[in-house]
Amino acid sequence: MMEWLLVPLAYSVGSVCSAIVVCRLMGLPDPREQGSGNPGATNVMRFGGKKAAGITLLGDSLKGLLPVYAGKMLGVPTELLAIIGLAAFMGHLYPVFFGFKGGKGVATSVGVLLGFSWLLGGAVMATWLLMYKIGKISSLSALVASVLSSLYAWFLIGDPAIVSATAVMTVFLLWRHKTNIERLLTGEET
Ligand code: G3P
Repeated sequence: MMEWLLVPLAYSVGSVCSAIVVCRLMGLPDPREQGSGNPGATNVMRFGGKKAAGITLLGDSLKGLLPVYAGKMLGVPTELLAIIGLAAFMGHLYPVFFGFKGGKGVATSVGVLLGFSWLLGGAVMATWLLMYKIGKISSLSALVASVLSSLYAWFLIGDPAIVSATAVMTVFLLWRHKTNIERLLTGEET
């Protein structure tokens, strides 16, 4: 029963928006008022440089990975593990600490997927890197990697709870990227 406490804990951890915290600590402007306005590593990279973006990426990934990893260590069933991962992801998208206005969920979803399975998360990261090498567009790389993540989960894991949680993250991630998708379709995305 106590392991269900990991769900609100994961949501709270997910709600700590790394981009905003990192920018504040490093004396950088608020990412919500710069570039795309998205509090995420890609946008921090635009005005804050590699170091700030790297720390943001690491922080956002870890807040997805650690709660799921903790659940695994406690031996929770995969259904609860899936809910814990979704809670961390939703915390990033709808953070209680930042007026429920969060990021697009790319790094946090990768962290969650790494928590589900190193192989699954690794496959998604490899897909992102390959797509970025080809197209040099962060959002397009994330969209392709996320769509494929559900297929990877199906073939590599097969567990219905994990596959469902992965698919739910993909749906929300696509929704959060709707302006990026519009710009991709008109050739304006960079
Ligand atoms: O990680 C978010 C990325 O896919 C898009 O970010 O700032 O280009 O909208 P941005």
